[in-house]
Amino acid sequence: MSKNLIVANWKSHKSVDETQQFFSRIAEVKNELQYANTEIVICPSFIGLEIAKRICSEHSLPIKIGSQNVSAYSEGAYTGEVAASQLSQIVKYIIIGHSERRNNFGDTEETIQEKIQQAKNENLSVILCVQGPDTPVYEGVDVIAYEPLSAIGTGNPDTPENVTTVLQTLHERSPQSLLLYGGSVDKNSIHSFLTIELLSGFLVGGASLDPDTFIHLVSACETRNSY
Ligand code: PGA
Repeated sequence: MSKNLIVANWKSHKSVDETQQFFSRIAEVKNELQYANTEIVICPSFIGLEIAKRICSEHSLPIKIGSQNVSAYSEGAYTGEVAASQLSQIVKYIIIGHSERRNNFGDTEETIQEKIQQAKNENLSVILCVQGPDTPVYEGVDVIAYEPLSAIGTGNPDTPENVTTVLQTLHERSPQSLLLYGGSVDKNSIHSFLTIELLSGFLVGGASLDPDTFIHLVSACETRNSY
């Protein structure tokens, strides 16, 4: 079985101090995170990226840092935007096409393609969020996260049967991409998805904000390899 991947999407949560507290807690229990088969990516908001990266380096934490967004433009006169070249010193992954960005910030299929291109220019791995089996997927996408709208932040995850069907279609359309599920994944719901063969892991929002809960989810992911 290939490596698992768990991605924490913190959205607009946590100050710099709270980001530091989270990673300091992880550093205290880092032995619990030495999983051979699960890659861990944490995506704080922009203000937390630098301190997150610094603490991970200082404590040799087995965690990669990701960004929740990227500018569709390269470095230059684009007020309020953060370019892929600026992010590339800190992050390895970029989330693109989350439904919250599509619905609230006008990310269109065109801007999504531009963002993917910007990320690939810097050799960053792209996690593309798709809302269903027919959402367009583009060249350069390394990871596809299936996140049905009805499941995001609702406490109402999709059924394992439906996730299996959707992942089959996504796999046929993009056989080289890793496939994740996201939407109300927590300590209870995670177990129902662990046996889905095409699934490589999870994109977790709310349940990734508490360090101990997040570690629990990472451990659950790791048990997949013994199924
Ligand atoms: P949730 O969010 O886990 O809080 O449902 C998932 C996401 O939107 O990434």
